[in-house]
Amino acid sequence: MTHALSTNALSKTYSNGFEALKAVDLKVEKGDFFALLGSNGAGKTTAIGIICGLITPTSGSVEIDGLNQGKNINEVKRKIGLMPQEFNFNPHEPNIEILINQAGYFGINRKEATLRAEVLLKKVNLWDRRLEVPQSLSGGMKRRLMLARALMHNPEILILDEPTAGVDVEIRRSMWRFLKQLNQEGLTIILTTHYLEEAESMCRNIAILNEGEIVAQSSMKALLKKAKHQVLIFECVESLSNSIKIKNCECEVLDAHTLQVTLPESTTISAVITKLLLQNVSVANIRSAQNRLENLFLSLTSKDE
Ligand SMILES: Nc1ncnc2c1ncn2[C@@H]1O[C@H](COP(=O)(O)OP(=O)(O)OP(=O)(O)O)[C@@H](O)[C@H]1O
Ligand SMILES: [Mg+2]
Repeated sequence: MTHALSTNALSKTYSNGFEALKAVDLKVEKGDFFALLGSNGAGKTTAIGIICGLITPTSGSVEIDGLNQGKNINEVKRKIGLMPQEFNFNPHEPNIEILINQAGYFGINRKEATLRAEVLLKKVNLWDRRLEVPQSLSGGMKRRLMLARALMHNPEILILDEPTAGVDVEIRRSMWRFLKQLNQEGLTIILTTHYLEEAESMCRNIAILNEGEIVAQSSMKALLKKAKHQVLIFECVESLSNSIKIKNCECEVLDAHTLQVTLPESTTISAVITKLLLQNVSVANIRSAQNRLENLFLSLTSKDE
């Protein structure tokens, strides 16, 4: 099957000698919702820049929908919609014009572009602000304007570099719903984010970059299976004594009614509840203390290891 995106031994050494990417092989299936994760400076934006034809790789190649990017740059650009990490619009151009002009670069006539701009501005809750200029928008609004702009030419692949950075909780949720809907309609989505909980709930496949190298690439499900343990907080009805013990688990009494339990993969939550009952403690509520993906991410990218 042809991949939506395939990079082959992609490397980038910047002119100051810094090696930002080291033989990166990324494979993204058509219709995927793919997360590219990595700490600050890991090389995510560099990789995206190369994929979109904005940065020249030092070596290696990129294929988009089976097309060699270097040889088919115009066709490839048409297939990709990019929402960059940094704001990059003319701050004095009216918002709706920014969208219409973007469509113009791809040969879409003004009438059609105006209709599409209306649909998208409404989708990202900026219709009321269409005649204003980006300068008068808040940071989160500018990000939404960039999302609408990325979609103006109906791309096959949407690439989002930290789409929800600085976007408030409510709008972030509505943005994710919108992205999920686009993905269900067949759009391939590739994104970077530092919100790992969101990556975990939204994305099917994932790659983790660390200092320019891929340290993990698999389905989210398979990757999470590798998370060796989970940390759960049990709210208990009875007062807890410090002598609570559960086989194979690490227990820490946080306060009179709150117990933190670190469970290995082999221990089920119901086993913990049973063991607590045997010690005359009943559980009123359970919540996750840490995100599993977050733990795994930290273990894969930790600088001390
Ligand atoms: N033009 C450049 N010249 C020299 N070094 C650069 C240049 N652009 C980026 N770098 C370096 O390359 C590395 C990767 O940067 P990049 O922007 O790709 O990281 P990132 O993973 O997107 O990080 P963030 O999460 O902070 O956005 C960083 O160490 C950065 O300083
Ligand atoms: Mg970046």
